[in-house]
Amino acid sequence: MHVLGIDVGGSGIKGAVVDIETGELVTERHRIKTPKGAEPEDVAKVVAKIAKHFNWQGPIGIGFPGPIKGGVIMMIANLSQRWAGLDAASLFAEVTGCPVTIANDADVAGLAEMTFGAGKKQPGTVIMITLGTGIGTAIFTHGHLVPNTEFGHVEVNGKDAETRASDAARQREEMSWKKYAKRLTRYFNTLEMLFWPDLFIIGGGISKEHENFLPLLEIKTKIIPAQMLNEAGIVGAALATQGLQVKK
Ligand code: BGC
Repeated sequence: MHVLGIDVGGSGIKGAVVDIETGELVTERHRIKTPKGAEPEDVAKVVAKIAKHFNWQGPIGIGFPGPIKGGVIMMIANLSQRWAGLDAASLFAEVTGCPVTIANDADVAGLAEMTFGAGKKQPGTVIMITLGTGIGTAIFTHGHLVPNTEFGHVEVNGKDAETRASDAARQREEMSWKKYAKRLTRYFNTLEMLFWPDLFIIGGGISKEHENFLPLLEIKTKIIPAQMLNEAGIVGAALATQGLQVKK
């Protein structure tokens, strides 16, 4: 079955048609820059443009950077504050004319990695962490997801973790890999102490550069890069139309 997967991010909005049985993209990725201010109307227009680009008429799955319940955005850190409380599933369904499922971006990226990528058949507690504009998290125990965890916002040394350890923070502060690895070590140590996971999977665009920082981390837990790199968000968004639990 083919589903259009769309990943809404702080810097880009990306989509592709996904074969949800194999987890493969059946089209090229189409990316449009996130409009300045990321207001709901403007983001909705971009989503509609992506659906039109693929001449799409069918189910659409969307990964979105906030906790989501019943299609409604509960809280928003890095897009317009007007998203909070908004029924985004209905908004996107209206502008595309297609049935829309929407879920947290890190949850769906984790779902893709657990189904087809680095987390496949991994036992125990697995935490997927996406490092991008923000820090997104997804926690699985034996393949079962607890949705909407927001561990990117735990406080480390009195500060919201994502403002210090996201990839955006690394770029903003022009950190060396060594300095960034120190920040991440402190953050991952906090997660270790709270959750005692068996595995961390690192996702987001930065996972392509994992050799620069994963070996520098001083943590106890096994840590590996995501295998699906930039595609996990799109593939996972498409998978989410079938529910948020790992099926394979
Ligand atoms: C949001 C999360 C999201 C993460 C990654 C955070 O700021 O609160 O919901 O998963 O960014 O986009």
